[in-house]
Amino acid sequence: MLITFEGIDGAGKSTQITKLIGWLERKGVETISLREPGGTDAAEKIRRILLDSGGKITPVGELLLFSASRAELVQQVIIPALESGKTVILDRFYDSTTAYQGYGRGLDLDMLRSIITISTCGIVPDVTVFLDLDPETALRRKFSEKSIPIAFDSDELDRMERSGLEFYRKVHQGYLETIKQNESRFVTIDAKEPADIIHNKVKEIIMHRFPFSPVIEQ
Ligand SMILES: Nc1ncnc2c1ncn2[C@@H]1O[C@H](COP(=O)(O)OP(=O)(O)OP(=O)(O)O)[C@@H](O)[C@H]1O
Ligand SMILES: [Mg+2]
Repeated sequence: MLITFEGIDGAGKSTQITKLIGWLERKGVETISLREPGGTDAAEKIRRILLDSGGKITPVGELLLFSASRAELVQQVIIPALESGKTVILDRFYDSTTAYQGYGRGLDLDMLRSIITISTCGIVPDVTVFLDLDPETALRRKFSEKSIPIAFDSDELDRMERSGLEFYRKVHQGYLETIKQNESRFVTIDAKEPADIIHNKVKEIIMHRFPFSPVIEQ
């Protein structure tokens, strides 16, 4: 079973994945959770290139490095784990590429689709949980993490993070377009809800989608 979590920065993916892993493990489900880029020797080296570049990588270069790292992770870790019956949980997968590099940065969507197919060997998540958060709230969460007070009705946002907000809006819209094209795979949850309520919804989704799994019961 391959479960992916998507959503703009600060939507609560990591929070929910931690809770989901705890629940699945308590149920005795063998689970691994992964985050790109990284997860194999080569992929970790690629991660370092991406993080150490100081923003000097072009969007296409970034796309190809992410995709190379993804190809390593898919072939060396994800496919073997799925084949051995494990549940794999991914904190972002190729929908992030479509939303961020495609809709956010404006790279050609057909080109992205081809690269995604190559880098994933064509594997598709069984379910993708989209944590839906408006860009303003996401930014507010990010700022509060850094203890920066911000008033959204002031000029402060324009000065500090206007391009950030515009970018998030495009990415968010990109996710909504992607969901329209893949409705049966996606489940959308309102990410403004408290984390425990969201977790209950995630559990319901897993139980509803995989009712015949012997270990996953309420
Ligand atoms: N449902 C929620 N309501 C309010 N705050 C939340 C909720 N879920 C998570 N948070 C808080 O919002 C912040 C971002 O959450 P988290 O790190 O889980 O998001 P993320 O989607 O993993 O972000 P990123 O994409 O940047 O990794 C954290 O400070 C977290 O405690
Ligand atoms: Mg996270």
